[in-house]
Amino acid sequence: MKKTRIRKAVFPAAGLGTRFLPATKAIPKEMLPVVDKPIIQYGVEEAVAAGCDQIIIVTGRGKTVIEDHFDISVELEHQLESRGKLDLLALARHISTLGRVAYIRQKEAMGLGHAVLMARDLVGDEPFAVILPDDVIDAKVPCLKQMIEVFDDVQSTILATQVVEGPAISAYGVIEARPIAKNSRVLEVKGLVEKPKLADAPSKNAIIGRYILTPRIFELLEKTPLGAGGELQLTDALRSLVHHEKVYGYSFDGTRYDAGDKLGFLKATVEFALQREDLGNDFRAWLQSLPSLKQ
Ligand code: UTP
Repeated sequence: MKKTRIRKAVFPAAGLGTRFLPATKAIPKEMLPVVDKPIIQYGVEEAVAAGCDQIIIVTGRGKTVIEDHFDISVELEHQLESRGKLDLLALARHISTLGRVAYIRQKEAMGLGHAVLMARDLVGDEPFAVILPDDVIDAKVPCLKQMIEVFDDVQSTILATQVVEGPAISAYGVIEARPIAKNSRVLEVKGLVEKPKLADAPSKNAIIGRYILTPRIFELLEKTPLGAGGELQLTDALRSLVHHEKVYGYSFDGTRYDAGDKLGFLKATVEFALQREDLGNDFRAWLQSLPSLKQ
C-alpha cells in the first residue's frame, strides 16, 4: 500500500464562543491570547511542527481578524524595521511564514461536523488533520506530530484522547476501545458515545481536539442527520466510520487545556507564563507572594 503523508490541517474557527462571553461578543475566541499569542497560533505552530504545510481555517462572520493575524502587516514591519526593533520584527514576520493559509466560510455555526465538511473542496481526496484551536496542548513532542507518527504505521483515522475521571466525562465524546498491545498508547475503537452519563460511559477515554481523518468522513458527514442541539456532529459521523474502516484512539503524551472555557484558559495562561524564560521567574515570585494564596 502506498503510504500517504498528512499535509493539510483544518482549523474549525467559526463557532460563537458563548462560554467565553462577554469577551467573545466582538472578538473571536480563537484570538484570545494565552500570555501574548492568540490561541489559534499555538495550534497552527503545532501543525507546522508536525509537517503540515497547508493550513485551512474555517471562519465565519466577525472572524476576519484571524486572516489579518496570519497575513503580512506591511506598516507594522516597516515601522519596527526603521526603529531597529528587530526582535519584535522577527516575531511579527514569523506569523506570516507559518505555511500556506487558506480560508473558507461556514455561513452558519451548524456544528463541528458541518465546519469540517466546509473544508471538503480544499482538502480533496487525502487524509488530513483537524485541530480545534481552543484545545491548547503543552507537550515535548507536539501532539499532532505524535499522532502523525502513529498514522505513518496505521494509515487510518486517529482520534486523540485523554483520561477524564468522574462526572466531567459527560462533557465529551467517549470511545469504547482497547489498547492494541499491552501498555500501548494506541487504542482500537469499537464504538463512540457522545456526552454519556458517567454510568453509561464505555471508558474514561475522552476525545479531545486533535483528529487525523480520512476523506471518507466527508461522505459520511453528507449523510449524517442533524444531531444534538440541531447541529451536524462530527462524533455522529465518526460512529458510522467505525463500520467502514479501522479507527484508533491515541492517548497523547502532554497536557491539554480547554482554552475556550474560562477556567481552562486561566490554567493555560498561568502554566505557559511560568514556563517562559522572560517572565517565568518574576511571575512565579509574584504568585507566591499573593496574600490570597496563603489563606
Ligand atoms: P466549541 O463547541 O468549543 O466552540 O467547538 P463554540 O461553539 O464556539 O463554543 P461555545 O461552546 O459556544 O463556547 C470547537 C471548535 O469548533 C468550532 C469552534 O470555533 C471551535 O474552535 N466550530 C464549532 C465551528 O467552526 N463551527 C461550528 O458550527 C461549531
